[in-house]
Amino acid sequence: METPVGAMFMFALLFCISSAEMAGKVGVNYGTLGNNLPVPSRSVELLKSLKAARVKIYDANPKILKALRNTDIQVSIMVPNELIANISKSQALSDNWVQTYVAPFYADVKIRYLLVGNEILTNPDIGTWFNLVPAMRRIKSSLKAHRLHKIKVGTPSATNVLESSFPPSNGTFRSDIAAPIMKPMLQFLNRTKSFFFVDVYPYFSWAADPKNINLDYALFESKNITYTDPVTNLTYTNLFDQTIDAIAFAMKRLGYPDVRIFIAETGWPNGGDVDQIGCNIHNAAIYNRNVVKRLTAKPIIGTPARPGWPIQSFLFALYNENQKPGPGTERHFGLLYPNGSQIYEIDLSGETPVWEYKKPLPEATNNEPYKGKLWCVAAKGANTSLVATALSWACSQGNKTCDPIKPGKRCYKPNSVIWHASYAFSSYWAQFQKTGGTCSFNGVAMSTPKDPSFGHCKFPSVRLA
Ligand SMILES: *[C@@H]1O[C@H](CO)[C@@H](O)[C@H](O)[C@H]1NC(C)=O
Ligand SMILES: *[C@@H]1O[C@H](CO)[C@@H](O)[C@H](O)[C@H]1NC(C)=O
Ligand SMILES: *[C@@H]1O[C@H](CO)[C@@H](O)[C@H](O)[C@H]1NC(C)=O
Ligand SMILES: *[C@@H]1O[C@H](CO)[C@@H](O)[C@H](O)[C@H]1NC(C)=O
Ligand SMILES: *[C@@H]1O[C@H](CO)[C@@H](O)[C@H](O)[C@H]1NC(C)=O
Ligand SMILES: *[C@@H]1O[C@H](CO)[C@@H](O)[C@H](O)[C@H]1NC(C)=O
Ligand SMILES: *[C@@H]1O[C@H](CO)[C@@H](O)[C@H](O)[C@H]1NC(C)=O
Ligand SMILES: *[C@@H]1O[C@H](CO)[C@@H](O)[C@H](O)[C@H]1NC(C)=O
Repeated sequence: METPVGAMFMFALLFCISSAEMAGKVGVNYGTLGNNLPVPSRSVELLKSLKAARVKIYDANPKILKALRNTDIQVSIMVPNELIANISKSQALSDNWVQTYVAPFYADVKIRYLLVGNEILTNPDIGTWFNLVPAMRRIKSSLKAHRLHKIKVGTPSATNVLESSFPPSNGTFRSDIAAPIMKPMLQFLNRTKSFFFVDVYPYFSWAADPKNINLDYALFESKNITYTDPVTNLTYTNLFDQTIDAIAFAMKRLGYPDVRIFIAETGWPNGGDVDQIGCNIHNAAIYNRNVVKRLTAKPIIGTPARPGWPIQSFLFALYNENQKPGPGTERHFGLLYPNGSQIYEIDLSGETPVWEYKKPLPEATNNEPYKGKLWCVAAKGANTSLVATALSWACSQGNKTCDPIKPGKRCYKPNSVIWHASYAFSSYWAQFQKTGGTCSFNGVAMSTPKDPSFGHCKFPSVRLA
């Protein structure tokens, strides 16, 4: 059908007006890797109390979708990573997934985003990378077939899809994925008017280099520190904008300057291991409140390279999740404790001005690198069978890591998996820290400043300076 020029013009005009008013709205990632979290119906009440405009889940859990029925909360669901390879090869399987997990809920749950996998291009299974865009296309066409027109299809990327992000104008996708994956992905996103979803964590950039990056610059608190990109002359006042613009420039370099960026995750940890810098309630509250203020501001701020562009977002995460593997920070990204109480006051609608948050924040005590001795022990409450696996791995790394816990040796007693693992973790860390060994062991270990040695058994330690 031909569209009269006048109608086209009217449409363009209306679109401009409505998009100018459409400021960013902030949602929350609802991760469920905890054994002590509230049920979905309670979680939805808590989302409302935070004034979250949206929620993102890491699957399409029907129990959660049922709890979201007849609410105003926009919902993002996800195709699990392990289904991507098969879906990329079979339209029938894609149709079936949409038929089962999306169609029954669409009428009364505001499903608006369907993300295919999570950080696939960081997943060690390289084969899946090449299945990603074909799977996205199949899912889109299944949605079309089911007339589920309001759902945008995307996939969240970590910022390590970039091989260069500095200066922002030098933003470039990794050469292993730029041509074969990013280009067809951007073509798909551009054609379907979807978004480039990205997980942005100034915390990790700052924590990796706190000497050279200013903390206030990472927290949106810097008054006098700015960075001017020498190529574009654009001036930056925070690390977040720098990262977003690096992505924008990388997309432009591949010929797609107009694809919108959607923050799939951002946040700051409210706690972590003793040797992890800057993870505390104080910084977490400042960062998340500032993100909300910025992304919901009217008039819309955007970024230096994209002034006035609205940015939609999801904070990470709803709860502190006690079963997330990795360093302690991973289990401390929540806005809420597992019992549902707020870790600090926050209003995701952006309607509460910062001065209305009444309760004083606890002082930040770990904004400087930890100095002193540390040991690595089995984490409290860790799954014993996983600890046993980590123990045998640590002992297989050589250099006599585990000699003292052999039968009859000085650290054999007490003969328990947890005790032996704590010895082996400390011993492994002490030997291999210099060459990149960490105190993590898939999340079953944690560092401690408290010497676990007793009797004749002295645990090796790591000294941080
Ligand atoms: C993918 O398909 C293969 C072959 O049909 C099947 O064996 C496998 O279980 C499927 N994988 C998943 C995760 O469903
Ligand atoms: C720009 O990015 C390239 C890699 O894409 C890198 O080799 C180069 O060093 C970067 N330039 C600057 C000034 O950092
Ligand atoms: C991206 O989409 C816009 C609007 O639909 C279109 O005008 C443009 O040509 C597309 N860009 C590319 C490189 O395909
Ligand atoms: C920024 O201001 C702070 C406090 O006013 C001051 O201590 C600091 O030296 C200033 N930094 C720069 C780069 O000007
Ligand atoms: C950036 O600023 C410098 C000095 O003011 C000027 O010479 C240059 O042309 C500017 N570059 C751009 C891209 O605006
Ligand atoms: C919820 O848990 C936190 C952290 O364990 C605790 O400080 C707080 O008092 C608890 N709140 C309620 C209402 O139980
Ligand atoms: C511990 O982990 C193993 C292996 O992943 C799992 O089969 C088992 O159910 C877990 N046990 C508990 C108590 O969570
Ligand atoms: C293992 O021990 C040897 C001898 O003490 C030492 O030279 C080597 O650096 C150690 N290897 C590692 C990875 O620490």
